[in-house]
Amino acid sequence: MARHTSVPRLALLSLVAIGSVSCAPASNPGLRGSEELLGYNPTNVLSQENTNDVGDYELLPGQKEDANIGEYLDFSNVDNPQPIRGSKGGTDPGPRTPALDKLFSDRLAPPGTDHGDVGNAQWSLALSKVKQGKKNAGWSRQQNVDVLPDATAMAGVDMRLEPNGYRELHWHVASEWALMLNGSARVQAVQEDGKTFVDDVSAGDVWFFPAGVPHSIQALEGGCEFMLVFDDGSFSEDNTFLASEIIAHNPKSVLAQNLNVNVSAFDDIPDGELFIFPGTAAPTDIQKQNVTSSAGTLQGKDSYTYHFSEQEPREVAGGSVKILDPLTFPIASKFSAALVTIKPGAMREIHWHPSSPEWSFFIAGTARATLFKPPNTATTFDYHAGDVGYFPQSESHYIQNVGEDDVILLEVLQADHFADISLGQWLALTPHQIVKDTLNISEEDINKFPTEKPVVVAAPSG
Ligand SMILES: *[C@@H]1O[C@H](CO)[C@@H](O)[C@H](O)[C@H]1NC(C)=O
Ligand SMILES: *[C@@H]1O[C@H](CO)[C@@H](O)[C@H](O)[C@H]1NC(C)=O
Ligand SMILES: *[C@@H]1O[C@H](CO)[C@@H](O)[C@H](O)[C@H]1NC(C)=O
Ligand SMILES: *[C@@H]1O[C@H](CO)[C@@H](O)[C@H](O)[C@H]1NC(C)=O
Repeated sequence: MARHTSVPRLALLSLVAIGSVSCAPASNPGLRGSEELLGYNPTNVLSQENTNDVGDYELLPGQKEDANIGEYLDFSNVDNPQPIRGSKGGTDPGPRTPALDKLFSDRLAPPGTDHGDVGNAQWSLALSKVKQGKKNAGWSRQQNVDVLPDATAMAGVDMRLEPNGYRELHWHVASEWALMLNGSARVQAVQEDGKTFVDDVSAGDVWFFPAGVPHSIQALEGGCEFMLVFDDGSFSEDNTFLASEIIAHNPKSVLAQNLNVNVSAFDDIPDGELFIFPGTAAPTDIQKQNVTSSAGTLQGKDSYTYHFSEQEPREVAGGSVKILDPLTFPIASKFSAALVTIKPGAMREIHWHPSSPEWSFFIAGTARATLFKPPNTATTFDYHAGDVGYFPQSESHYIQNVGEDDVILLEVLQADHFADISLGQWLALTPHQIVKDTLNISEEDINKFPTEKPVVVAAPSG
C-alpha cells in the first residue's frame, strides 16, 4: 500500500531533482528502487503493522444505536471520531484531517438511510478563493458550477465593501438578486428607457438588477457585506461587463464622437479593471444622486429594491419565516425567496419545491440536510455559516438545526411564487387507508401527522 501511494510523489521529485542525481553521496539511496521489488519474491520482507490500535476513541450514544435511526453525531468535542454507526463501518487509523471529520460528521459516519450518491449539495465559501479589490476596498468570493456541478440554475457571490468602497459600474448577462447581510450601501441603475433608480439598503434588504441593466453599488460609511444570487449556475464574477473595460476597448475617436467630447477627455482613464476600489463618500442627501431625464424614475412595482428588513416574519413552532417573491417584488420576476430562522433542535420540515431547484445560503448556525433523489439515493450533508446548499427541483430535503444557536437560512428559487410541498401535510391529507396500505403505519400514528404545514417543526420535547 505505502509503496503504491508513493509512486506519483517520487515521479514528481525525479523531475526537479534529476540534475543532481549524479552528485548524491554513494550511501544515499537512488530515487528509484530495485527490480527485485517487483511482484512476489520470497526474499521480500512483509511488515504486518497492527492497525487495530487506532488509539483511544469514544463512540457517541447515536453511534451505538441502529444506523437507520441516524441521529446527528456532534463530534465537535469528540477526540478521534470514528466512521461507525451501529453495525456499519469500522475504525480509521488514518491518514485523516481531524478538524474536517469533526465538522462533517455525516460524511464520516452517514446515517444508515443514506444510499448511493446524489451528487454534491454543499459548498463552504471558505474554500472559494477570495478575489481581492484594490487598496483594501473589499473582496468577493463565489460559488458556481465549477465547484458545485449540479447547481446549474443559480450561482452566488459573497461580497464585502469597506466604507465608501465601490463595486464598479457594470452589467452582466444574468439577472442579479441580492440580500444585504451587514451594513448598508447605495445602489443605482439606469434601465433601457432611461428611467433611473437610486436607493439605500441596509442589512436584511434586497435588490434586483435585471439582466443587462448597468448598475453600481457603493458602501456607505459603515461598510457592508452582501450575498448576490444569479439566475445562471455558470455565472462568474470574473466575467462581467465593466465601465472601465468598455471605455478602454473602444477607439478614443469613437468614444469622443459618441460622448460629445474631445479625445483628450480619455487621457487619464484607468489602465485596467477597477472591480472593487475605494471611493468618495456618497452624499448623505440621496437627492444629490437622483439623476433623471424626461423618462423619470423607477417607482412602486418597478423598483429595484425591497426593504425586506422591515417585513415582520411569521412565527412558527420551531422558528420564523418570511417570504419575498414576485407577488410583492414583481421586478424580480423569477426570484422567490424565504428567510427562515430555525431554533436549536428545530427543523425546516421535509419538503420539495415543485417548480424550481433551491439555492440556499446558511447565514448563521449549524445544520444538516438529507437530499433524496429518485429512485432510492439519499445523502446527508452538514452545513455551517457561510455555506451554500443546492437542492434540485422536486428532490426532498429538510434542514435540521444541530447546533446551539439559531440557524438563519436563505432559500432562493427560480419561480414566479414561492412554493413547497410538505411531506407531513401530503401524508396527513391523503386518505388514511391509502397511507396505511402503502406504508404499514398504524391509524393511530397517521392521525398525528400535521394537516397544516409546520414549515419549521419544533425541537422534540423532553
Ligand atoms: C455586522 O458585522 C459586525 C462585525 O463583525 C457584527 O458585530 C454585527 O453583528 C454584524 N451585523 C449583522 C446584522 O450581522
Ligand atoms: C482637443 O484638445 C486638445 C488639447 O486641449 C486641443 O489641442 C485640440 O484642439 C482639441 N481638439 C478639438 C477637436 O477640439
Ligand atoms: C428622485 O426624484 C424623483 C422625482 O424626479 C422622485 O420621485 C424620487 O422619489 C427621487 N428618488 C430619490 C431616491 O430621492
Ligand atoms: C405490517 O406490520 C405488521 C406489524 O409489524 C407486520 O406483522 C406485517 O407483516 C406488516 N405488513 C406488511 C404488508 O408488511
